[in-house]
Amino acid sequence: MGFSKDFVWGAATSAYQIEGMTQGEGKGEHIWDIYTKEPGHILEGHTGDIACDHYHRFREDIKLMKEIGLKAYRFSVDWSRVLPEGVGAVNEKGIAFYSELIDELLKNEIEPYLTLYHWELPYELYKRGGWMNPEIVEWFGAYAKLIAERFSDRVRHFFTLNEPQCFVGLGFLRGEHAPGIQAPIRDTFEMAHQVLKAHGRAVQMLRQYAKQPVWIGYAPTGSMCYPETDTPEDIEVARQMLFSLQTNKRNWTWNVSWWSDPVLLGHYPEEGLKLYEAYLPKITEEDRKLIAEPIDFYGQNIYNGRCVRMGKEGKPEEVQRYAGFPKTAIDWPVTPKCLYWGSKFLYERYKKPIYITENGLSCHDTVSLDGKVHDPNRIDFLARYLHELKRAADEVDIRGYFQWSLMDNFEWAKGYTERFGLIYVDYRTQQRILKDSAFWYRDIIQTNGEGL
Ligand code: FCB
Repeated sequence: MGFSKDFVWGAATSAYQIEGMTQGEGKGEHIWDIYTKEPGHILEGHTGDIACDHYHRFREDIKLMKEIGLKAYRFSVDWSRVLPEGVGAVNEKGIAFYSELIDELLKNEIEPYLTLYHWELPYELYKRGGWMNPEIVEWFGAYAKLIAERFSDRVRHFFTLNEPQCFVGLGFLRGEHAPGIQAPIRDTFEMAHQVLKAHGRAVQMLRQYAKQPVWIGYAPTGSMCYPETDTPEDIEVARQMLFSLQTNKRNWTWNVSWWSDPVLLGHYPEEGLKLYEAYLPKITEEDRKLIAEPIDFYGQNIYNGRCVRMGKEGKPEEVQRYAGFPKTAIDWPVTPKCLYWGSKFLYERYKKPIYITENGLSCHDTVSLDGKVHDPNRIDFLARYLHELKRAADEVDIRGYFQWSLMDNFEWAKGYTERFGLIYVDYRTQQRILKDSAFWYRDIIQTNGEGL
């Protein structure tokens, strides 16, 4: 058993985090272009202006992907690069860039997985209300149509949105990501509703204008829950807590079910309709239908999880992490079991083939005296996590895994201080070095995870 013969071993990136070339070549501005320029927003004042200069170096990067043996590559299109004003005039240079990228991937037998929205809201649309403006449903739909028309002759797999939890929660509630707003809670529910409707509209447009049968999914995130023991009580507690909602309303976006139930099950969770009643926009039957436009697979970004159990008093509780609990450089806990239990619970609830659309870690990687980048922590982390994923693959339908990230890149508010890549990037020279983990991953891919 284990991973299926055609298991999709991949790696992921996103546009603003790697491309560079943010000005010129016809690109419009998006909210991150603006946000990063203001002092105090990004650690050490970094911006994505140059990033990994992937815009110019994508051929070299694809060669490295080939060397690692990747079967698939998940990347995103910068909306403002192809539609500088978000709607209307098309920037043919932007289209040409992604078109060449796709051709080069296919030439190297790497399957492209295209994400429509990994957080680059065109600034022109932001000024018109962005996600608050109901028109965004059609704006996003028109963008999806363009993508289908131009790329679906060669791209067969699409994701609509990456992590709505983050771009609404961090961008508009906590104000830690672009555009840096702390909006009233009510506004963010309104936005979330438009976000989900825009997802549905994009699914319709991709399907309608695709030039061949396409597979469409979604890539939300969430902290998974896993049981402390294998008793039925603990397992049930973990399942319930994974799909439960935050009572602290300023944290409301951090959950799975508000974002995924309407898409996969056709309705918002009952618990939330009660808990958040005071903040909700009008939700019509038509909205519900649009949001639930059928998709083909379920993607989920999974980095870590919480260990939970049935407490002594018969109440579910989180198990406190012990002092010195393992963590990654960015301080996220190392909890491999989240991949096994997360995949299982998600599959059982949503009944769609699963792709892990992101998973990985940052390390304090440096170039050693021998000129190589030794990252035993990454290998250890991935071995533990993939072992758990393999266990899950024995039981539920898991189709693919995308390592975050192909290469070190602009880690949003943390700038370049966090290194998540299989490939080391020296930002002074743009030199790339395959880390030890890239060679390790190559072996895993070659053996289809046999030794895990
Ligand atoms: C996810 C994002 C991705 C990257 C990783 C580390 O939340 O989708 O762009 O920043 O975290």
